[in-house]
Amino acid sequence: MTTVRLNPPDNVVSFDTDALVVGVHSGPDGLRAAPGAEGLDQALGGKLAETLNAMGVKGKPGETAKVPTFGALAAPLLVVVGLGDAPEGDYDIEALRRAAGVATRSLAGTARAALALPSASAEQAGALALGGLLGAYSFTAYRTGEQPAPLAELTVLSDAEGAEAAVERASTVAASVSLVRDLVNTPPSGLWPARFAEIAEQTAAEVGLSVEVLDETALKEGGYGGIVAVGQGSANPPRLVRLAYSHPEAAKTVAFVGKGITFDSGGLSIKPTSGMDWMKSDMGGAGAVFGALVAIARLGLKVNAVGYLCLAENMPSGTAQRPSDVFTSFAGKTVEVLDTDAEGRLVLIDGIARAGQDNPDLIVDVATLTGAQIVALGWRTAGVMANDDALREEVVAIAGEQGEAAWGMPLPEELRKGLDSPVADIANLHPERFGGMLTAGLFLKEFVPDGVKWAHIDTAGPAFNKGEPHGYTPKGGTGAMTRTLIGIAERYTAG
Ligand code: BES
Ligand code: MN
Ligand code: ZN
Repeated sequence: MTTVRLNPPDNVVSFDTDALVVGVHSGPDGLRAAPGAEGLDQALGGKLAETLNAMGVKGKPGETAKVPTFGALAAPLLVVVGLGDAPEGDYDIEALRRAAGVATRSLAGTARAALALPSASAEQAGALALGGLLGAYSFTAYRTGEQPAPLAELTVLSDAEGAEAAVERASTVAASVSLVRDLVNTPPSGLWPARFAEIAEQTAAEVGLSVEVLDETALKEGGYGGIVAVGQGSANPPRLVRLAYSHPEAAKTVAFVGKGITFDSGGLSIKPTSGMDWMKSDMGGAGAVFGALVAIARLGLKVNAVGYLCLAENMPSGTAQRPSDVFTSFAGKTVEVLDTDAEGRLVLIDGIARAGQDNPDLIVDVATLTGAQIVALGWRTAGVMANDDALREEVVAIAGEQGEAAWGMPLPEELRKGLDSPVADIANLHPERFGGMLTAGLFLKEFVPDGVKWAHIDTAGPAFNKGEPHGYTPKGGTGAMTRTLIGIAERYTAG
């Protein structure tokens, strides 16, 4: 893990680092150095703009150029990142996170880097730290042979008031997001429900979270019919993990519930071969809940927070649940399972119903729930549904502030009828394919404890980047929604 520190930007020319990162703006009159890059052109003999022009640098977001400094600066390497057109007012915070991430992502094998990017406020300095740390992420646990050394030290050059605390927070948040990315990237042979529970127990002890793990016997005895039904087909039995953090001055309790399918084969309603490997990411929701609880504890927020990880492996076998089977959920309602591949909602309803026992002010669940989310909103934008309009809009707004794209979605009442079952209280599959993200949300809504505000985040696309890296987002596990949950906990913090 990269460590991050803060340094006043007194003299970037003589600052001792391996790679100095500065920004350039595009514009009608050509490139313009961004704040932080002052004095560099002079130190480089007035040749910087000329050199960048010759290299074809336009200053567009996502662009980087590496320039050797030949001894003119203390840093042997200058990394120039595009910041787009100079803003009229304040810098866009997400643009700064991304620029810092683009820079560190290009620096694999570099030990020390310093960001001399716009950082006039604590918020900007924090954004640079977070983007820089997240961009430096790599997952090499399963590679043999020599790997490029990860960035060991990242310095943010800023003297903004409050920057220290902002950089500190960024470092805690980045550690949690990286933890979630690691879990998502770990193959299912390395991460099954009991293993995930063990990791949660160990980490909980380190950061001071209380933890309770229900194994398959306890789940059966406790009436967690959904988690048992989904997990019964696997040689790796299911778990429910409850993580809890409390603060003596807290005024509110937030409860988070995560879908934690460590591998989703579809069960007997088996998935096609193509893309099944992707389903190692089907625990991304539980990952986000875990990462958020860890960060909340490390930050010492004045809030009570509970997190449920609904962990199961969805496999076909002689003991697997069959399409048409009926189980009794933790809430007491019976569910007919028409499609064993609609398993996420089955584990979530037990977690959501159990969360009611914590008397939370709100419940937020996070799940890689439907392919329909990707059809509706694409790869990068999560869908947010809720039983309360204000809460839905609040979650969408918080996600946006944290730099995680999310969009409000409806739960149209007329679609509920399609979930009627001829034999049980409700069926897990809607006969209509259309609106699949919404019908999954409507199914969950039936199990929310009476009078409790609830929001549901479908993060099927955002949890895993199948495309090329961009900004501070790598290929593979992204850690999506971890920051949104942390942001929600911060919003419900006392004082
Ligand atoms: N884990 C999948 C959803 C998913 C798909 C996540 C693609 C990430 C990427 C979920 O368990 C699933 O299989 N959903 C089905 C539901 C259907 C059977 C109602 C789907 O979306 O096709
Ligand atoms: Mn499935
Ligand atoms: Zn699934």
